[in-house]
Amino acid sequence: MSAARTPQLPPFGHKPQPYTGPSYEETLATRKKYLNPTLFMYYKKPLMVVEGNMQYVWDETGRRYLDAFGGIVTVSVGHCHPKVNKAAIDQINRISHTTTIYLNNQITEYAEKLAAKMPGNLKCVYFVNSGSEANDLAMLMARLYTGNYDLVALRNCYHGGVASVMGLTSHSTWKFNVPHSFGIHHALMPDTYRGVWGRNDPGAGKKYAADVKDLILNATSGKVAGFFAESIQGVGGVVVFPDGYLKEAYRIVREHGGVCIADEVQAGFGRTGKAYWGFETQGVIPDIVTMAKSIGNGAPLAAVVTTPEIAQAMTQRIHFNTFGGNPVSMAIGKAVLEVIDEENLMERSRVLGDRFLAGLNKMKDKYEVLGDVRGAGLMVAMEFVTDKASKTPNKDACGQVFERARELGALIGKGGLFGNIIRITPPMCVSEADIDFLLEVLDIALSEI
Ligand SMILES: Cc1ncc(COP(=O)(O)O)c(C=O)c1O
Repeated sequence: MSAARTPQLPPFGHKPQPYTGPSYEETLATRKKYLNPTLFMYYKKPLMVVEGNMQYVWDETGRRYLDAFGGIVTVSVGHCHPKVNKAAIDQINRISHTTTIYLNNQITEYAEKLAAKMPGNLKCVYFVNSGSEANDLAMLMARLYTGNYDLVALRNCYHGGVASVMGLTSHSTWKFNVPHSFGIHHALMPDTYRGVWGRNDPGAGKKYAADVKDLILNATSGKVAGFFAESIQGVGGVVVFPDGYLKEAYRIVREHGGVCIADEVQAGFGRTGKAYWGFETQGVIPDIVTMAKSIGNGAPLAAVVTTPEIAQAMTQRIHFNTFGGNPVSMAIGKAVLEVIDEENLMERSRVLGDRFLAGLNKMKDKYEVLGDVRGAGLMVAMEFVTDKASKTPNKDACGQVFERARELGALIGKGGLFGNIIRITPPMCVSEADIDFLLEVLDIALSEI
Protein backbone atom coordinates (compact mmCIF):
# COMPACT_ATOMS: atom_id res chain seq x y z
CA MET A 1 0.00 0.00 0.00
CA SER A 2 1.22 3.46 -0.81
CA ALA A 3 0.56 5.33 2.40
CA ALA A 4 1.90 8.67 1.25
CA ARG A 5 -0.26 9.14 -1.82
CA THR A 6 -4.04 9.28 -1.72
CA PRO A 7 -5.34 10.71 -4.96
CA GLN A 8 -8.37 12.96 -4.60
CA LEU A 9 -11.23 12.96 -7.07
CA PRO A 10 -11.78 16.44 -8.50
CA PRO A 11 -14.56 18.35 -6.67
CA PHE A 12 -18.04 17.88 -8.17
CA GLY A 13 -21.31 19.55 -7.27
CA HIS A 14 -23.79 16.69 -7.50
CA LYS A 15 -25.04 15.32 -4.17
CA PRO A 16 -26.32 11.75 -4.49
CA GLN A 17 -29.71 10.86 -3.07
CA PRO A 18 -29.60 8.69 0.06
CA TYR A 19 -29.87 5.07 -1.07
CA THR A 20 -32.86 3.37 0.57
CA GLY A 21 -33.21 0.16 -1.48
CA PRO A 22 -32.26 -3.41 -0.57
CA SER A 23 -28.84 -3.81 1.07
CA TYR A 24 -25.67 -4.77 -0.78
CA GLU A 25 -25.78 -8.29 0.70
CA GLU A 26 -29.45 -8.78 -0.17
CA THR A 27 -28.94 -7.53 -3.73
CA LEU A 28 -25.97 -9.83 -4.22
CA ALA A 29 -27.88 -12.84 -2.86
CA THR A 30 -30.94 -12.10 -5.00
CA ARG A 31 -28.79 -11.68 -8.07
CA LYS A 32 -27.08 -15.02 -7.43
CA LYS A 33 -30.45 -16.70 -6.97
CA TYR A 34 -32.35 -15.26 -9.93
CA LEU A 35 -29.92 -14.13 -12.62
CA ASN A 36 -28.20 -16.43 -15.08
CA PRO A 37 -24.76 -17.28 -13.69
CA THR A 38 -23.03 -16.57 -17.01
CA LEU A 39 -23.48 -12.87 -16.23
CA PHE A 40 -20.09 -12.14 -14.71
CA MET A 41 -19.33 -9.30 -12.34
CA TYR A 42 -16.20 -7.19 -12.12
CA TYR A 43 -14.04 -7.13 -8.96
CA LYS A 44 -13.31 -9.63 -6.19
CA LYS A 45 -15.93 -7.81 -4.14
CA PRO A 46 -18.52 -6.76 -6.73
CA LEU A 47 -19.36 -3.08 -6.85
CA MET A 48 -22.95 -1.90 -6.45
CA VAL A 49 -23.72 1.21 -8.49
CA VAL A 50 -26.90 3.08 -7.60
CA GLU A 51 -26.52 6.55 -9.08
CA GLY A 52 -24.68 8.38 -11.83
CA ASN A 53 -24.08 11.95 -12.88
CA MET A 54 -21.94 12.86 -15.89
CA GLN A 55 -18.53 11.12 -15.52
CA TYR A 56 -19.16 9.85 -11.99
CA VAL A 57 -21.10 7.03 -10.33
CA TRP A 58 -21.95 6.40 -6.67
CA ASP A 59 -22.19 3.17 -4.73
CA GLU A 60 -24.87 2.39 -2.13
CA THR A 61 -22.79 3.98 0.64
CA GLY A 62 -22.57 7.30 -1.23
CA ARG A 63 -18.93 6.81 -2.31
CA ARG A 64 -18.11 8.46 -5.63
CA TYR A 65 -16.04 6.87 -8.42
CA LEU A 66 -14.70 8.17 -11.71
CA ASP A 67 -16.42 6.00 -14.32
CA ALA A 68 -13.45 5.58 -16.63
CA PHE A 69 -15.07 2.66 -18.49
CA GLY A 70 -18.36 4.44 -19.23
CA GLY A 71 -20.54 1.37 -18.63
CA ILE A 72 -18.43 -0.50 -21.22
CA VAL A 73 -17.83 2.33 -23.72
CA THR A 74 -21.51 3.24 -23.69
CA VAL A 75 -22.04 6.38 -21.62
CA SER A 76 -20.82 8.80 -24.25
CA VAL A 77 -22.03 12.22 -23.10
CA GLY A 78 -22.38 11.59 -19.36
CA HIS A 79 -24.67 9.74 -16.96
CA CYS A 80 -28.08 11.42 -16.65
CA HIS A 81 -27.07 14.18 -19.05
CA PRO A 82 -29.82 16.80 -18.51
CA LYS A 83 -30.56 17.33 -22.21
CA VAL A 84 -30.74 13.60 -22.94
CA ASN A 85 -32.89 12.95 -19.87
CA LYS A 86 -35.25 15.78 -20.77
CA ALA A 87 -35.69 14.44 -24.30
CA ALA A 88 -36.52 10.98 -22.90
CA ILE A 89 -38.93 12.27 -20.25
CA ASP A 90 -40.74 14.61 -22.66
CA GLN A 91 -41.23 11.76 -25.13
CA ILE A 92 -42.26 9.19 -22.52
CA ASN A 93 -44.95 11.58 -21.35
CA ARG A 94 -46.24 11.96 -24.92
CA ILE A 95 -46.10 8.37 -26.23
CA SER A 96 -43.53 5.68 -25.48
CA HIS A 97 -44.27 3.05 -28.10
CA THR A 98 -45.67 3.07 -31.63
CA THR A 99 -43.62 0.61 -33.77
CA THR A 100 -42.76 1.34 -37.38
CA ILE A 101 -46.19 0.30 -38.67
CA TYR A 102 -47.33 3.90 -38.03
CA LEU A 103 -45.74 7.17 -38.97
CA ASN A 104 -44.05 9.01 -36.15
CA ASN A 105 -41.87 12.10 -36.36
CA GLN A 106 -39.21 10.93 -33.86
CA ILE A 107 -37.82 8.15 -36.03
CA THR A 108 -37.76 10.25 -39.20
CA GLU A 109 -36.21 13.30 -37.54
CA TYR A 110 -33.52 11.16 -35.98
CA ALA A 111 -32.82 9.04 -39.08
CA GLU A 112 -32.31 12.22 -41.09
CA LYS A 113 -29.93 13.64 -38.48
CA LEU A 114 -27.96 10.40 -38.22
CA ALA A 115 -27.73 10.01 -42.00
CA ALA A 116 -26.36 13.57 -42.17
CA LYS A 117 -23.41 12.38 -40.07
CA MET A 118 -22.55 9.66 -42.58
CA PRO A 119 -20.31 10.06 -45.64
CA GLY A 120 -21.07 9.00 -49.21
CA ASN A 121 -24.36 7.31 -49.93
CA LEU A 122 -24.75 5.80 -46.45
CA LYS A 123 -28.22 7.26 -46.03
CA CYS A 124 -30.60 4.40 -45.21
CA VAL A 125 -31.10 3.51 -41.54
CA TYR A 126 -32.54 0.46 -39.78
CA PHE A 127 -32.86 0.91 -36.00
CA VAL A 128 -32.51 -2.04 -33.66
CA ASN A 129 -31.78 -2.49 -29.94
CA SER A 130 -28.26 -3.85 -29.57
CA GLY A 131 -24.93 -4.11 -31.31
CA SER A 132 -25.36 -7.86 -31.75
CA GLU A 133 -28.67 -7.34 -33.51
CA ALA A 134 -27.13 -4.67 -35.73
CA ASN A 135 -24.32 -7.01 -36.79
CA ASP A 136 -26.75 -9.88 -37.34
CA LEU A 137 -28.73 -7.65 -39.67
CA ALA A 138 -25.59 -6.47 -41.45
CA MET A 139 -24.61 -10.11 -42.10
CA LEU A 140 -28.02 -10.71 -43.63
CA MET A 141 -27.86 -7.57 -45.78
CA ALA A 142 -24.40 -8.45 -47.06
CA ARG A 143 -25.49 -11.95 -48.01
CA LEU A 144 -28.75 -10.87 -49.62
CA TYR A 145 -27.21 -8.02 -51.58
CA THR A 146 -24.21 -9.92 -52.94
CA GLY A 147 -25.81 -13.34 -53.31
CA ASN A 148 -22.64 -14.73 -51.69
CA TYR A 149 -22.40 -16.49 -48.35
CA ASP A 150 -18.87 -16.40 -46.98
CA LEU A 151 -17.82 -13.62 -44.65
CA VAL A 152 -14.38 -12.52 -43.53
CA ALA A 153 -13.84 -11.16 -40.04
CA LEU A 154 -10.65 -10.54 -38.09
CA ARG A 155 -9.00 -12.59 -35.41
CA ASN A 156 -9.30 -10.97 -31.99
CA CYS A 157 -12.56 -9.27 -32.96
CA TYR A 158 -15.77 -8.99 -30.95
CA HIS A 159 -19.06 -8.39 -32.74
CA GLY A 160 -21.55 -9.62 -30.14
CA GLY A 161 -23.06 -12.64 -28.47
CA VAL A 162 -26.19 -13.73 -30.36
CA ALA A 163 -25.70 -17.03 -32.18
CA SER A 164 -25.08 -15.57 -35.65
CA VAL A 165 -22.52 -12.97 -34.57
CA MET A 166 -20.84 -15.35 -32.12
CA GLY A 167 -19.50 -16.83 -35.35
CA LEU A 168 -17.96 -13.49 -36.31
CA THR A 169 -16.50 -12.96 -32.85
CA SER A 170 -13.13 -14.65 -32.70
CA HIS A 171 -12.19 -15.05 -29.03
CA SER A 172 -12.55 -18.61 -27.79
CA THR A 173 -13.59 -17.13 -24.45
CA TRP A 174 -16.78 -15.73 -26.03
CA LYS A 175 -17.61 -18.68 -28.30
CA PHE A 176 -19.69 -21.56 -26.98
CA ASN A 177 -19.02 -25.09 -28.12
CA VAL A 178 -21.97 -25.24 -30.51
CA PRO A 179 -22.05 -24.88 -34.31
CA HIS A 180 -22.00 -21.18 -35.19
CA SER A 181 -19.27 -20.17 -37.61
CA PHE A 182 -20.27 -21.83 -40.89
CA GLY A 183 -19.15 -19.61 -43.75
CA ILE A 184 -17.12 -17.27 -41.55
CA HIS A 185 -13.34 -17.01 -41.89
CA HIS A 186 -10.91 -15.03 -39.76
CA ALA A 187 -8.00 -13.13 -41.21
CA LEU A 188 -4.83 -12.11 -39.35
CA MET A 189 -5.38 -9.36 -36.83
CA PRO A 190 -3.39 -6.33 -37.86
CA ASP A 191 -1.71 -5.92 -34.46
CA THR A 192 1.45 -3.86 -34.65
CA TYR A 193 2.41 -4.67 -31.04
CA ARG A 194 2.34 -8.46 -31.16
CA GLY A 195 2.08 -9.17 -34.88
CA VAL A 196 4.87 -9.81 -37.37
CA TRP A 197 4.87 -6.29 -38.80
CA GLY A 198 5.37 -3.57 -36.24
CA ARG A 199 4.73 0.16 -35.88
CA ASN A 200 7.97 1.18 -37.53
CA ASP A 201 7.08 -0.67 -40.72
CA PRO A 202 5.34 1.81 -43.06
CA GLY A 203 4.09 -1.08 -45.21
CA ALA A 204 2.47 -2.97 -42.31
CA GLY A 205 -1.09 -2.04 -43.33
CA LYS A 206 -0.77 -3.57 -46.80
CA LYS A 207 1.12 -6.59 -45.52
CA TYR A 208 -1.60 -7.50 -43.03
CA ALA A 209 -4.30 -6.85 -45.63
CA ALA A 210 -2.65 -9.35 -48.00
CA ASP A 211 -3.85 -12.07 -45.64
CA VAL A 212 -7.45 -11.15 -46.47
CA LYS A 213 -6.76 -12.03 -50.10
CA ASP A 214 -4.94 -15.20 -49.15
CA LEU A 215 -7.86 -16.26 -46.98
CA ILE A 216 -10.46 -15.55 -49.66
CA LEU A 217 -8.48 -17.50 -52.24
CA ASN A 218 -7.85 -20.45 -49.94
CA ALA A 219 -10.92 -20.73 -47.72
CA THR A 220 -13.80 -19.62 -49.95
CA SER A 221 -15.07 -20.04 -53.51
CA GLY A 222 -13.30 -16.79 -54.31
CA LYS A 223 -16.55 -14.87 -53.87
CA VAL A 224 -17.49 -13.37 -50.52
CA ALA A 225 -20.52 -11.61 -49.08
CA GLY A 226 -18.54 -9.21 -46.98
CA PHE A 227 -15.81 -8.20 -44.59
CA PHE A 228 -16.43 -7.18 -41.00
CA ALA A 229 -13.99 -5.09 -39.00
CA GLU A 230 -14.27 -2.97 -35.89
CA SER A 231 -12.59 0.29 -36.82
CA ILE A 232 -10.51 -0.13 -33.66
CA GLN A 233 -10.84 -3.50 -31.91
CA GLY A 234 -12.41 -2.85 -28.53
CA VAL A 235 -12.94 -6.01 -26.47
CA GLY A 236 -9.75 -7.40 -28.03
CA GLY A 237 -7.79 -4.67 -26.25
CA VAL A 238 -7.98 -1.46 -28.31
CA VAL A 239 -6.02 -2.71 -31.30
CA VAL A 240 -5.41 0.25 -33.62
CA PHE A 241 -4.80 -0.85 -37.20
CA PRO A 242 -1.75 0.36 -39.14
CA ASP A 243 -2.33 3.08 -41.74
CA GLY A 244 -3.64 1.80 -45.02
CA TYR A 245 -4.94 -1.50 -43.61
CA LEU A 246 -8.66 -0.99 -44.20
CA LYS A 247 -8.13 0.73 -47.54
CA GLU A 248 -6.31 -2.30 -48.93
CA ALA A 249 -8.57 -4.86 -47.22
CA TYR A 250 -11.67 -3.10 -48.62
CA ARG A 251 -10.16 -3.06 -52.10
CA ILE A 252 -9.50 -6.80 -51.93
CA VAL A 253 -12.94 -7.65 -50.56
CA ARG A 254 -14.72 -5.60 -53.22
CA GLU A 255 -12.59 -7.24 -55.89
CA HIS A 256 -14.02 -10.55 -54.66
CA GLY A 257 -17.66 -9.45 -54.77
CA GLY A 258 -18.08 -8.51 -51.11
CA VAL A 259 -19.30 -5.46 -49.26
CA CYS A 260 -17.37 -3.83 -46.41
CA ILE A 261 -18.93 -3.53 -42.98
CA ALA A 262 -17.57 -1.21 -40.31
CA ASP A 263 -18.53 -2.06 -36.75
CA GLU A 264 -18.55 1.34 -35.05
CA VAL A 265 -20.12 0.06 -31.84
CA GLN A 266 -17.12 1.24 -29.80
CA ALA A 267 -15.14 3.61 -32.01
CA GLY A 268 -18.02 5.74 -33.31
CA PHE A 269 -19.56 9.04 -32.24
CA GLY A 270 -16.34 11.00 -31.93
CA ARG A 271 -14.64 8.80 -29.35
CA THR A 272 -11.38 8.50 -31.29
CA GLY A 273 -11.12 12.29 -31.21
CA LYS A 274 -9.86 12.30 -34.79
CA ALA A 275 -13.09 11.78 -36.69
CA TYR A 276 -16.74 11.16 -35.99
CA TRP A 277 -16.41 7.57 -37.22
CA GLY A 278 -13.46 5.29 -36.62
CA PHE A 279 -13.33 4.18 -40.26
CA GLU A 280 -12.62 7.77 -41.32
CA THR A 281 -9.25 7.53 -39.53
CA GLN A 282 -8.37 4.85 -42.12
CA GLY A 283 -9.62 6.92 -45.08
CA VAL A 284 -12.34 4.49 -46.19
CA ILE A 285 -16.09 4.57 -46.75
CA PRO A 286 -17.79 1.29 -45.85
CA ASP A 287 -20.92 -0.09 -47.50
CA ILE A 288 -22.62 -0.91 -44.20
CA VAL A 289 -22.01 0.64 -40.78
CA THR A 290 -23.24 -0.84 -37.50
CA MET A 291 -23.46 1.27 -34.35
CA ALA A 292 -24.63 0.86 -30.75
CA LYS A 293 -23.36 1.71 -27.24
CA SER A 294 -22.46 5.46 -27.42
CA ILE A 295 -25.36 6.06 -29.79
CA GLY A 296 -27.84 6.00 -26.89
CA ASN A 297 -25.66 7.06 -23.92
CA GLY A 298 -26.95 3.93 -22.16
CA ALA A 299 -30.38 3.54 -23.78
CA PRO A 300 -30.94 0.24 -25.65
CA LEU A 301 -30.46 1.65 -29.13
CA ALA A 302 -28.46 0.51 -32.16
CA ALA A 303 -28.54 1.02 -35.91
CA VAL A 304 -27.42 -0.31 -39.26
CA VAL A 305 -26.77 2.37 -41.85
CA THR A 306 -26.22 1.43 -45.46
CA THR A 307 -26.84 2.59 -49.01
CA PRO A 308 -30.39 2.57 -50.45
CA GLU A 309 -29.25 -0.10 -52.96
CA ILE A 310 -28.06 -2.53 -50.29
CA ALA A 311 -31.09 -1.81 -48.12
CA GLN A 312 -33.34 -2.68 -51.06
CA ALA A 313 -32.17 -6.31 -50.88
CA MET A 314 -34.09 -6.66 -47.61
CA THR A 315 -37.42 -6.12 -49.34
CA GLN A 316 -37.51 -9.71 -50.67
CA ARG A 317 -39.28 -10.69 -47.44
CA ILE A 318 -40.94 -8.96 -44.50
CA HIS A 319 -38.57 -7.85 -41.75
CA PHE A 320 -39.63 -6.20 -38.53
CA ASN A 321 -38.23 -5.26 -35.13
CA THR A 322 -40.74 -4.43 -32.37
CA PHE A 323 -38.62 -1.97 -30.41
CA GLY A 324 -36.37 -0.79 -33.23
CA GLY A 325 -37.21 2.88 -33.75
CA ASN A 326 -38.94 3.25 -30.39
CA PRO A 327 -39.85 6.96 -30.06
CA VAL A 328 -38.17 7.34 -26.65
CA SER A 329 -34.95 5.80 -27.97
CA MET A 330 -35.18 8.03 -31.03
CA ALA A 331 -35.56 11.16 -28.90
CA ILE A 332 -32.56 10.06 -26.84
CA GLY A 333 -30.45 9.30 -29.91
CA LYS A 334 -31.22 12.71 -31.40
CA ALA A 335 -30.30 14.47 -28.14
CA VAL A 336 -27.01 12.54 -27.95
CA LEU A 337 -26.02 13.66 -31.46
CA GLU A 338 -26.81 17.26 -30.51
CA VAL A 339 -24.87 17.12 -27.24
CA ILE A 340 -21.77 15.68 -28.93
CA ASP A 341 -21.76 18.69 -31.28
CA GLU A 342 -22.90 21.38 -28.83
CA GLU A 343 -20.34 20.38 -26.21
CA ASN A 344 -17.57 19.77 -28.73
CA LEU A 345 -17.01 16.31 -27.28
CA MET A 346 -15.02 14.93 -30.20
CA GLU A 347 -12.41 17.65 -29.79
CA ARG A 348 -12.43 17.10 -26.05
CA SER A 349 -11.85 13.42 -26.66
CA ARG A 350 -8.83 14.28 -28.80
CA VAL A 351 -7.26 16.73 -26.35
CA LEU A 352 -7.87 14.66 -23.23
CA GLY A 353 -6.98 11.40 -24.97
CA ASP A 354 -3.62 12.89 -26.04
CA ARG A 355 -2.99 14.12 -22.49
CA PHE A 356 -3.80 10.70 -21.10
CA LEU A 357 -1.65 8.78 -23.61
CA ALA A 358 1.28 11.14 -23.01
CA GLY A 359 1.05 10.36 -19.28
CA LEU A 360 0.76 6.63 -19.93
CA ASN A 361 3.75 6.65 -22.24
CA LYS A 362 5.86 8.08 -19.41
CA MET A 363 4.61 5.26 -17.19
CA LYS A 364 5.51 2.73 -19.85
CA ASP A 365 9.15 3.83 -19.64
CA LYS A 366 9.04 3.50 -15.86
CA TYR A 367 7.44 0.07 -15.42
CA GLU A 368 8.68 -3.19 -16.97
CA VAL A 369 5.24 -4.83 -16.77
CA LEU A 370 3.59 -2.13 -18.87
CA GLY A 371 4.41 -3.49 -22.32
CA ASP A 372 2.30 -1.23 -24.48
CA VAL A 373 -0.03 1.75 -24.31
CA ARG A 374 -2.13 2.70 -27.30
CA GLY A 375 -5.39 4.14 -28.44
CA ALA A 376 -7.09 7.08 -30.06
CA GLY A 377 -8.92 9.82 -28.20
CA LEU A 378 -10.71 8.42 -25.18
CA MET A 379 -10.36 4.80 -26.28
CA VAL A 380 -7.15 3.72 -24.63
CA ALA A 381 -5.46 0.49 -23.54
CA MET A 382 -2.55 -0.60 -21.33
CA GLU A 383 -1.17 -4.04 -22.11
CA PHE A 384 0.58 -5.92 -19.28
CA VAL A 385 3.48 -8.31 -19.83
CA THR A 386 5.89 -10.19 -17.60
CA ASP A 387 8.73 -8.28 -19.30
CA LYS A 388 9.08 -6.08 -22.35
CA ALA A 389 11.37 -8.48 -24.23
CA SER A 390 9.21 -11.60 -24.09
CA LYS A 391 5.82 -9.79 -24.16
CA THR A 392 4.34 -12.74 -22.23
CA PRO A 393 0.81 -11.71 -21.22
CA ASN A 394 0.65 -10.79 -17.53
CA LYS A 395 -2.91 -11.25 -16.35
CA ASP A 396 -1.96 -11.00 -12.67
CA ALA A 397 -0.41 -7.54 -12.98
CA CYS A 398 -3.41 -6.39 -14.99
CA GLY A 399 -5.78 -7.74 -12.35
CA GLN A 400 -3.85 -6.01 -9.56
CA VAL A 401 -3.99 -2.63 -11.27
CA PHE A 402 -7.65 -3.12 -12.04
CA GLU A 403 -8.59 -3.91 -8.41
CA ARG A 404 -6.35 -1.22 -6.93
CA ALA A 405 -7.76 1.46 -9.23
CA ARG A 406 -11.23 0.70 -7.91
CA GLU A 407 -9.99 1.00 -4.31
CA LEU A 408 -8.52 4.39 -5.21
CA GLY A 409 -11.74 5.57 -6.83
CA ALA A 410 -11.45 4.85 -10.58
CA LEU A 411 -13.44 2.24 -12.50
CA ILE A 412 -11.62 0.88 -15.51
CA GLY A 413 -12.21 -2.04 -17.89
CA LYS A 414 -10.42 -5.20 -18.93
CA GLY A 415 -10.00 -6.95 -22.26
CA GLY A 416 -7.83 -9.03 -24.55
CA LEU A 417 -7.88 -12.76 -25.17
CA PHE A 418 -5.51 -13.32 -22.23
CA GLY A 419 -7.17 -10.85 -19.86
CA ASN A 420 -3.96 -8.79 -19.66
CA ILE A 421 -5.22 -5.52 -21.08
CA ILE A 422 -6.77 -2.58 -19.24
CA ARG A 423 -9.26 -0.57 -21.26
CA ILE A 424 -10.09 3.03 -20.47
CA THR A 425 -13.06 4.65 -22.19
CA PRO A 426 -14.68 7.28 -19.96
CA PRO A 427 -17.67 9.40 -20.93
CA MET A 428 -16.36 12.13 -23.24
CA CYS A 429 -17.35 14.82 -20.72
CA VAL A 430 -14.39 14.02 -18.43
CA SER A 431 -12.15 16.91 -17.42
CA GLU A 432 -8.39 17.46 -17.40
CA ALA A 433 -8.49 17.05 -13.64
CA ASP A 434 -10.16 13.64 -14.04
CA ILE A 435 -7.45 12.51 -16.46
CA ASP A 436 -4.73 13.66 -14.05
CA PHE A 437 -6.50 11.86 -11.21
CA LEU A 438 -6.65 8.70 -13.29
CA LEU A 439 -2.97 8.92 -14.19
CA GLU A 440 -2.09 9.25 -10.53
CA VAL A 441 -4.27 6.28 -9.61
CA LEU A 442 -2.66 4.12 -12.29
CA ASP A 443 0.83 5.22 -11.31
CA ILE A 444 0.21 4.27 -7.69
CA ALA A 445 -1.31 0.93 -8.72
CA LEU A 446 1.65 0.15 -11.00
CA SER A 447 4.21 1.20 -8.39
CA GLU A 448 2.82 -1.41 -6.01
CA ILE A 449 3.32 -4.38 -8.34
C1 LIG B 1 -17.48 -3.80 -31.37
C2 LIG B 1 -18.71 -4.42 -30.80
N1 LIG B 1 -19.66 -4.84 -31.63
C3 LIG B 1 -20.80 -5.39 -31.17
C4 LIG B 1 -21.02 -5.52 -29.82
C5 LIG B 1 -22.29 -6.16 -29.33
O1 LIG B 1 -23.10 -5.18 -28.78
P1 LIG B 1 -24.29 -5.59 -27.76
O2 LIG B 1 -23.64 -6.02 -26.48
O3 LIG B 1 -25.08 -4.31 -27.65
O4 LIG B 1 -25.05 -6.67 -28.39
C6 LIG B 1 -20.06 -5.06 -28.92
C7 LIG B 1 -20.26 -5.19 -27.46
O5 LIG B 1 -19.38 -5.05 -26.66
C8 LIG B 1 -18.87 -4.51 -29.43
O6 LIG B 1 -17.92 -4.07 -28.61
